[in-house]
Amino acid sequence: MAQSASNRKVLVLPGDGIGPEIMGEVMRVVEFFDKRRIASFDIKQGLVGGSAYDASGTPLTDATLAEAMSSDAVLFGSVGGPKWETLPFELQPERGLLRLRKEMDLFANLRPAVVFEALADASALKRDLVAGLDLMIVRELTGGIYFGDPRGVETLPDGTKRGINTEVYTEAEIERVLRAGFELARKRQHRLTEVDKANVMESGLLWREVARRVAADYPDVELSFMYADNCAMQLVRAPKQFDVIVTSNLFGDILSDCAAMLTGSLGMLPSASLGAADASGRRRALYEPVHGSAPDIAGKGVANPLACILSFAMMLRYSFDLAEEADLVENAVRQTLAAGIRTGDIAGTSDTRATTKQMGDVVLKELEKAA
Ligand code: IPM
Ligand code: MG
Repeated sequence: MAQSASNRKVLVLPGDGIGPEIMGEVMRVVEFFDKRRIASFDIKQGLVGGSAYDASGTPLTDATLAEAMSSDAVLFGSVGGPKWETLPFELQPERGLLRLRKEMDLFANLRPAVVFEALADASALKRDLVAGLDLMIVRELTGGIYFGDPRGVETLPDGTKRGINTEVYTEAEIERVLRAGFELARKRQHRLTEVDKANVMESGLLWREVARRVAADYPDVELSFMYADNCAMQLVRAPKQFDVIVTSNLFGDILSDCAAMLTGSLGMLPSASLGAADASGRRRALYEPVHGSAPDIAGKGVANPLACILSFAMMLRYSFDLAEEADLVENAVRQTLAAGIRTGDIAGTSDTRATTKQMGDVVLKELEKAA
C-alpha cells in the first residue's frame, strides 16, 4: 500500500571510510525519486562507527540507537578503519554495527548474489559457471558465536591465556531464520539448502532437526543439507546449483564473501537485515552493502557506489513494498553496467575507470530515461 513520506522514516548512517562517498550517490537517487514524485522519504542522518567515536566517544550513541529503533528502515554505509584499530574492543567501530543488529533484533540477513550479464567476465570464475547466477544467502545475524557466552580471554593458573567464544543457538532462533528462508524460497526456485557442520558440532545437529520439522510447513520447497566446508567448495565449483542457502552467523559471514566474489566484486553486493514482523506487518530493517569501509581507497572518490544503491533498492522492496521502484533502480544499475561504466573494482585492464560520482551520474541518467 502506498505510504506518504511521513510513513517512511529512514535513518541514514554513512559511517566511515568509503561509506559517506557511496551514500552520497544514494542520496542523489533519493532526491531524484522525491523531485519526480516517485516516492518520498523522511530522511535523518546520524553517525556510526569510528566517526561516531570521534564525535562522542562511542561507536553508537543511545540517541542514534533510539532513532534507528523508531525508523521504518536504516540505510547503513560501512564502518572501520586503521585509525580506530587500536581502540579497546568495546569501542571499535564494528561494535556499533553489531549493537544495531542485536538491539534491533535483525535476525535474518539476506545477501543476494546476482551476476549482472555485463559483469560475467569480471568474475574470478569462468563465465559459463557464473552467467545468470542468482542465489540468496540467508545468514542468521543475532546469535551464534558472534554473541554467545561464555566469551573473552582468560588467564589460566599457569599464567598462559585462553580465548573463548561459544556457538549457541536456541530452537526458536533457528526456526525463525529458517522460516524467513523458506518464505523466500517460495518466491524463488523453491529450493533451500541448510548449511552447517553437523558432522562436528551438536548445534549443527539441532539446526538439521529444526529444519526437518519446519520443512513440513513448506512441502513445496525442496530441503537439502550441506556441510559448510563443502558449501564453500561448491560455491566456487558450481554456484548455480543453489537457490536459497540458510546458515548460521559465522558460516554466513564467510560464505557470503565467497558468493560476493562470484559476482565480480564485493563492491556489487547489497544486503537486507530484517527483524520479525509485528501485528501490522511492520518489521525493523537495516540495509547495507556487504563490502566494508575500504580504507585503502577512502576519500579518493573512486569507490563503487552500486552495492549501496542496490541496498537502497532492497529497502524499497522489503520495507516499503515499492517493487516497481526497486526494479527501476536495479534496471538503472544494469544499464549503467551494460554501458561499460566501471569503477576500479570491476574494471578490466582496458576499461576506463569511472569515479564514484561518474558512476552515480550514469545511474541517474538511466533513471531519468526510464522514469
Ligand atoms: C559483515 C562484516 C561484519 C560481520 C563485520 C564488519 C563486523 O564482515 O557484515 O559481513 O562480521 O558481520
Ligand atoms: Mg563479512
